[in-house]
Amino acid sequence: MIYPIVAYGDPVLRTKAEDINLENPPMDLNELVQNMFETMYNASGVGLAAPQIGLSYRLFIIDSSLILEEDAEEVGLKKVFINAHKVEEDGDEWAFAEGCLSIPNISEDVSRPSRIKLRYYDENLELQEEVFEGLTARVIQHEYDHIDGVLFTDYLKPLKKRLLKRKLTKISKGDISVKYRMKFPVRR
Ligand code: NI
Repeated sequence: MIYPIVAYGDPVLRTKAEDINLENPPMDLNELVQNMFETMYNASGVGLAAPQIGLSYRLFIIDSSLILEEDAEEVGLKKVFINAHKVEEDGDEWAFAEGCLSIPNISEDVSRPSRIKLRYYDENLELQEEVFEGLTARVIQHEYDHIDGVLFTDYLKPLKKRLLKRKLTKISKGDISVKYRMKFPVRR
């Protein structure tokens, strides 16, 4: 099932998400994850976080193989992160043009550290602690921000933010051209 993707301006994208009770999950997690992958691929995304489909849980998925060049040394990763918590972030900062399925047609350079270490449960509900690097780390950092209520536009300089303000308001109102289904917070 393909979910509509929540657009910029919806409060769920600004809410720090909660852990899922894994003893007694509020939904079928396998089915949810499968539907999230379907939703992400349908929108040509490389990552999707639960708040982007309106669920304020610390869950996100990624498939970094979709943005790696064929001759890249890095191996792409398709992965599920449940109840993810950041342990550490380090390494030299580098800039990369990020986009977001909740903020269509906008892409801006964001600087982030090169490594991130996370503690999370995998799709088999086994606890993992792992360090990620390269583009995979970048995708994870972007998605991790979503479960903390942070968006990539938050990192932009004040001038850039001012220049984007009108575009962002248009997105909230659904006044955009986008190929996948979205849920807009502001009624036109
Ligand atoms: Ni995003």
